[in-house]
Amino acid sequence: MKLIMLGAPGAGKGTQAKKIAAKYQIPHISTGDIFRSNIKAGTELGMKAKSYMDQGQLVPDEVTIGMLLDRISQDDSKNGYVLDGFPRTIPQAESLTAALSDRGEKIDYAVNVDVPDENIVNRMSGRRACVGCGATYHIVYNAPKKEAICDVCGEKLILRDDDQPETVQKRLTVYHDQTQPLIDYYNKEGILVEVDGTQDMEQVFQDIVKVLGA
Ligand code: AP5
Ligand code: MG
Repeated sequence: MKLIMLGAPGAGKGTQAKKIAAKYQIPHISTGDIFRSNIKAGTELGMKAKSYMDQGQLVPDEVTIGMLLDRISQDDSKNGYVLDGFPRTIPQAESLTAALSDRGEKIDYAVNVDVPDENIVNRMSGRRACVGCGATYHIVYNAPKKEAICDVCGEKLILRDDDQPETVQKRLTVYHDQTQPLIDYYNKEGILVEVDGTQDMEQVFQDIVKVLGA
C-alpha cells in the first residue's frame, strides 16, 4: 500500500503516519525527519535545508524531489510506504506521479488530515520532539510519562526551532499557497480521502483505517 499524508503543519500527519506504518508494516517516510536527521549529523544537505526550515519556507524542489525518489527506491519500500510531508508542491506531486508511472506503480490513497488554522498554533506550541529518536508528544494531548523526557529512548524533549509562533504562521501561509492545491490534484486523481483531524488521535486513526481496510 502506497499512501500520502496531506495536511497543514501540525495537523497530525506524523502522528497518524506512525500509526499507519505500524499497523500495515510499511515504512514511514517523512521528508521533515530526513532533513532534521541531516541537520543533526551536520551534512551539507542538512545545512542547506536548515536555512529554509528555520524561516518556515520550503526546501527547494531540486533538493527535495531527488532525495525522496532515492528513498522510495530502497529495498524496504518495495511493499509500499506512507509519505509524510511529501509532496508539498505541484511539481513534487507531478514528479512522484511520473516516477511511479515509469515503474507501472501508483499511489493508492492521499489522506488529507483536515484541521483549521485556529487549532494549529495551539498544537504546535504544545508539541515536544525527542532530540534522540524524533518521537513527538504534546504537553496536553499526548504527554510523556516523565516531563520533558522521551518515553521511548529517555532523551530530552524540546520545542522544535520552527515551532515558534511567528514561524508557525509563516509555515501556514506557505501551506495555503503551495501545498493546499494538492488536495484538488489528488481529488481529480480520484484517490483523496478526507478525515476530520480535530477529533482525538485514536478517532482520526479509526477513520483512516475504515477506508484503508483492517
Ligand atoms: P515537517 O516536519 O513535515 O513539518 P510540517 O508539515 O510543518 O508538519 P509537522 O511535522 O509540523 O506537523 P504534523 O502534521 O506531522 O503534526 P504532528 O503529528 O507532529 O517539515 C518541516 C519543514 O521541512 C518544512 O517547513 C519545510 O521547510 C521542510 N520540508 C519538509 N518536507 C518538505 C518538502 N516535501 N518540500 C519542501 N520542504 C520540505 O502533530 C502536531 C502536534 O499535535 C503534536 O504535538 C501531536 O502530539 C499533536 N496532535 C496530533 N494529532 C492530534 C489530535 N488529533 N488531537 C490533539 N493533538 C494532536
Ligand atoms: Mg511531522
